[in-house]
Amino acid sequence: MNVYIETYGCQMNQADSGIVAKVLKQSGYNLVQSQDDADIILINTCAVRDNAEKRIHNRVHDLQGAKKKKPHLKIGIIGCMAERLKDSLINDDKVDIVCGPDSYRKIDELVKQSGAIDVELSEQETYEDIVPIELESDGISAFISIMRGCENFCTYCVVPYTRGKERSRSPQSIIEQAKKLFEQGYRDITLLGQNVNSYKYNENGKDVRFAELLLRVADINPLLRVRFATSHPKDLSVELVEAIAAKHNICKYIHLPVQSGSDVMLSKMNRKYTSDEYLKKIELIREKIPDCAISTDVIAGFCGESLEDHEKTLEMFKKVKYDSAYMFKYSDRPGTVAHKRFEDNIDEEEKVRRLQQIIDLQRELSLQSNQKDVGKTFEVLVEGESKRDKTKLFGRTSQNKVVIFDKEDNKKGDYIDVKIDSCTSATLFGKKLL
Ligand code: SAH
Ligand code: SF4
Ligand code: F3S
Repeated sequence: MNVYIETYGCQMNQADSGIVAKVLKQSGYNLVQSQDDADIILINTCAVRDNAEKRIHNRVHDLQGAKKKKPHLKIGIIGCMAERLKDSLINDDKVDIVCGPDSYRKIDELVKQSGAIDVELSEQETYEDIVPIELESDGISAFISIMRGCENFCTYCVVPYTRGKERSRSPQSIIEQAKKLFEQGYRDITLLGQNVNSYKYNENGKDVRFAELLLRVADINPLLRVRFATSHPKDLSVELVEAIAAKHNICKYIHLPVQSGSDVMLSKMNRKYTSDEYLKKIELIREKIPDCAISTDVIAGFCGESLEDHEKTLEMFKKVKYDSAYMFKYSDRPGTVAHKRFEDNIDEEEKVRRLQQIIDLQRELSLQSNQKDVGKTFEVLVEGESKRDKTKLFGRTSQNKVVIFDKEDNKKGDYIDVKIDSCTSATLFGKKLL
């Protein structure tokens, strides 16, 4: 039987698809690269915003045509949407398999049946004994899930309901996976969790926290770059910032989602920090790691957001001068506290307008950030050929910025010092330092 897996949503889903692939492969299934060759299509889904879900409903609808041509074809929804919508996916969307994020060990059983569903959440499952298959891999960058679930209950967010309780994986299993990846040629590893700062694992009677884990992974080899996502600002510790500063191969890049610049909104979102406290964390980073890039997530048009609240978000962006940002308009999610208690009262047009203002501002800030790099030299890890021009290579700096430069005799996985000579708001261009 041939299985095709496609992945939507966050990096955790990408890592999870690798686990699903491994479980199926061990049970004798064949993994294929094209849906045309598949007997089973599994779609790993995201439920974080309504448009993410709409896309999947449309995708499943389109696949009904393929099913007509190939009647034995089975379609499965796995991941966060499976967890949120459960049997309605079988009844309304006519899918054959529904498997939630904590049921992947049983995926081989589920795909044998029709109308099979398992959406039980677990308090322990971390899949730490399963070495995932690196799907869609460039052979250089890989993700390692270090924990699962989230218990922060930001009022707008569906993740605590789709991913369940927070649990951490043993440091030993994480380090083994990272070592294996390094031996296979991988050079850039991202440690993943919804809030890596609350990583905690009791090892021989002593708690290992995230800063220590990060240092241990970095110690595997100086040629292994280590990144992480995501840090909740409330838990970003001095120890963590000092750990990043201490090691050359821990990347100088922190993704620190702010969500809003207004204290009224932050409290309503249950983020557990004020804008001043957030700015103090930024000061701490700037003081200890002067060359650190900082990115963020932001939501425009949350319930009851006034124009003044929105202005405060723009001010926050100007103060921090983010290097990059992921920007969203608020999407009401059934089941969340915001859905139950607050009114989603900013109309669509106004949400779009506010979001666009943030996007325009960030484009300017990204350009300014890149312009500051012109004339400087960065160590770039080569990730592949530039898609637009085969005579060029692309790679990333420790700060997570993309750099394009002449190929010459260099290849994927090399570290090269590149002097930046020009930029756009999205990319740096440079020449190899001789
Ligand atoms: N755990 C991470 C974020 C996970 S979800 C953190 O706490 O930072 C990724 C991003 O999606 C969030 O940071 C938030 O900006 C956005 N998001 C979550 N729920 C949303 C919603 N209902 N509407 C719009 N954006 C949302
Ligand atoms: Fe969602 Fe908040 Fe958890 Fe992030 S920390 S996943 S935004 S509840
Ligand atoms: Fe989406 Fe689930 Fe990730 S809701 S953002 S795929 S944890």
